[in-house]
Amino acid sequence: MNNFEYCNSTRLVFGKGEEDRIGDLLRKKLPAGSKVLVVFGGGTVKRTGLLAKVEQSLAKADLQSVTLGGVTPNPQLCFVQKGIELARQQAVAAVLAVGGGSVIDASKAIAIGVPYEGDVWDFFIQKAAPEKALPVACILTLPAAGSEQSIRIVLSDKDRKLGTGTPIVRPFVSVIDPEIFYTLPKKQIRAGVIDMMSHIMERYFTQTKGTDFIDGQAEAAMRSIMKNGLKLIKNHKNYDAWCQIGLAGSFAHNGYYGLGQVEDWACHGMEHELSAWDTTITHGEGLAVVTPAWMHYVWKDNPERFIQFACNVMSVKPHGSTKKTVMAGIKALKKFYAKIGAPKNLKELKADGISAKELAVKACQLNGKLGNFKVLHEDDIEQIYKLMR
Ligand code: NZQ
Ligand code: ZN
Repeated sequence: MNNFEYCNSTRLVFGKGEEDRIGDLLRKKLPAGSKVLVVFGGGTVKRTGLLAKVEQSLAKADLQSVTLGGVTPNPQLCFVQKGIELARQQAVAAVLAVGGGSVIDASKAIAIGVPYEGDVWDFFIQKAAPEKALPVACILTLPAAGSEQSIRIVLSDKDRKLGTGTPIVRPFVSVIDPEIFYTLPKKQIRAGVIDMMSHIMERYFTQTKGTDFIDGQAEAAMRSIMKNGLKLIKNHKNYDAWCQIGLAGSFAHNGYYGLGQVEDWACHGMEHELSAWDTTITHGEGLAVVTPAWMHYVWKDNPERFIQFACNVMSVKPHGSTKKTVMAGIKALKKFYAKIGAPKNLKELKADGISAKELAVKACQLNGKLGNFKVLHEDDIEQIYKLMR
């Protein structure tokens, strides 16, 4: 295991009706009368009445709401730039995201953009590193991206989708009420389940030795996500299952499962190119296509880790030869994805028009490579995209 330092500063407030406390939770940080930028997406939170509840709670706590709706899935730079303008004009003291990963990421980007003199995109193209941010808070409406506890922000501009990360954007408070998830369509339930599984896998597939403690936690978490994900596909109002998934999604990406080990993130890098190529592609569904292809390409670089995954996560019995056991593990993962209705290939993702070469070039544009389990260069990435057909 490698040396590490870990500090997770997010106060997590979990359970039925806890969103009613958001005003008081923010007032612990902000003086009376402060303005809060309340960011939301395409209107779900208006229809469900959550936004009105949030505004009431803020008003009761002597805070003023400045609302900003319209964040799209795969949030866009132009929206964030407008949000930064508004936040400056209104002199808001904090940003409150009410939504899923896209809304939280747009809110985080606004939070680092407000005190910065240059263009916020500078942080994503690695031209600058954020040093200051407005405080960010969050009410989660979709367990998936894990942004409610993560230090990451993912933003798109035209055909580029890039990420940046800094502990200063980790929300200081996040509220998770599993009942808010009841309105999610199946597509978002499965995309969320796949995404949180992937956040653990991106860390679990490591070449770092001596990770037994975290491995065991990660394996148990992945089994639980699959079990409860299946329950939710059958009954989207299963409160206990939502509790497990809400908790898992939030912890999957707060850094815990990567303690002391080198993380990978090649699958996310390749998926981000797909959802940048077509912004209607849902991140989690893209990962369902990318991940098995990546596994087929890299397993030989550490077959023992893939056997461990097959046996401890996918409940495969060793098949005699290493290759057979590894393949059985990958097959079982694909079977799980199929069971929850995920796309199996680029065609089902409606992305068969991509140029594997073009996407591989873009994936390497910033750092010249992706991943660490096996370091992937343009040619490797092109081959992996071809395996997704
Ligand atoms: O826009 P609204 O009306 O809110 O509808 C949303 C949206 O259409 C809907 N939705 C959200 N909560 C709902 C609901 N519908 C019914 N009931 C509810 N309770 O779901 C749709 C998708 O929302 P979105 O926020 O885009 O989904 P998700 O949470 O999966 O976020 C995806 C984004 O997060 C990024 C992804 O790349 C993508 O841009 N990621 C961010 C990460 C991070 N910051 O740490 C890590 C992840 O790996 C990921 O890359
Ligand atoms: Zn993800």
